[in-house]
Amino acid sequence: MAHKVVVTREVFDDALDRLRAAAIVVDNQGDVPLPPAELAARAADADAIVCALTDRVDAALLARCPRLKVVANIAVGYNNIDLAACTARGVMATNTPGVLDETTADFAWTLMLGAARRITEAERYLREGQWTGWQLKQLLGVDVHHATLGIIGMGRIGQAIARRATGFSMQVLYCNRSRLDAEVERGLNARWVARDELLAAADFVVLMVPYSEATHHLIGAAELARMKPTAVLVNTARGGVVDDVALVDALRRRVIAAAGIDVFEGEPAFHRDFLALDNVVLAPHIASSSAATRRAMAMLAARNAIAALSGERPPNLLNPQVLQA
Ligand code: DGY
Repeated sequence: MAHKVVVTREVFDDALDRLRAAAIVVDNQGDVPLPPAELAARAADADAIVCALTDRVDAALLARCPRLKVVANIAVGYNNIDLAACTARGVMATNTPGVLDETTADFAWTLMLGAARRITEAERYLREGQWTGWQLKQLLGVDVHHATLGIIGMGRIGQAIARRATGFSMQVLYCNRSRLDAEVERGLNARWVARDELLAAADFVVLMVPYSEATHHLIGAAELARMKPTAVLVNTARGGVVDDVALVDALRRRVIAAAGIDVFEGEPAFHRDFLALDNVVLAPHIASSSAATRRAMAMLAARNAIAALSGERPPNLLNPQVLQA
C-alpha cells in the first residue's frame, strides 16, 4: 500500500515532486494554516507529516494518527513538536539543521547593522518627506566596527555570526551551555564568558539559543538592565527567549539603545507597542528566508520523510531512541 504524506503548508514544487515520487501527497499549496482539527483529519491515515513551525505536533494529534511514522519539520527549531510524545508513540521526528546557518547569520547581521545605523527609522523619515537637507547630527547611530559582539548560543549559527565579526574588527564574547574546543575558539577569536559578564561588556548582544523551558525569558528586565545603555539586542532565536513586555519597556526608557527583532512571543501576534518605537528594527520571522535556503529546508524535510518511509534512518533524526525500541 502506498504511503501517504501530508504537507501542512505551501512548499517548493521540487520538494513536492520528490515526495510524490515516493508517496501519495496531500499538499496545502494554498498555504492556509490548518487548525489542529483539520490537520488531525488530514493526517488520520498518514504515514508522514511534513510540517512547519506554525503547526503544533502534540500528543493529541499523534493519538489521532495511528499510522504515523515520521514528522519532518521544515525548520531547525522544533519547539512546535512534542518530542517526548513522538518518542512515546514510536514516531520519528526530524528537523533541518545546517542548510540555514549562513543565511540566518547574514540576517542577524542585517538586524545588527540596521538597528545600529537606524536604517528603518531613516527610511521612514525620508519617505515621509521630513528630510530637508544634510545635518551634522542627523540620525546618529552607533559604530559596529571595533565594537564588542556578545553571542548567547554558540551552535552552528552562532559560530557563523562570529565568523563575520572578523571583517568588522570586533571582539567576540560568547556564552553557551558548553565551552567550544580551544581550537574552534581561536579560529573564531571568541572568548567564553559568563552571561552576566557578556551582558555588561557587549555592544551587541545576539541571541541564538533554541526555545525551551530553560530559555524562556532568558532576557528579561534584569538582564536588559545589565546591558550598556548604548547596546543593541538582536533576537533571531525564538519568540519567548526574550520577555517582549520588558524589552518594549527597556527600549522606551532607553535602558538599551536599540533592538533588532525577527521573532516574537505568540507569533504571528506581537506586542503592538513595538510599533510606536523608533529604536527597533522589526521583521516577520524571515532570518532563514532566502530563496535558496528555504528551498533547501523543504528539500531536506522531504528527504527526511522519505528516508523514514523507506525504512532508512533519516539524516536529521531527533529521537533515535525510536529506532532502538
Ligand atoms: C528555524 O529553522 O527554526 C527557523 O526559525 C525557520 O524560519
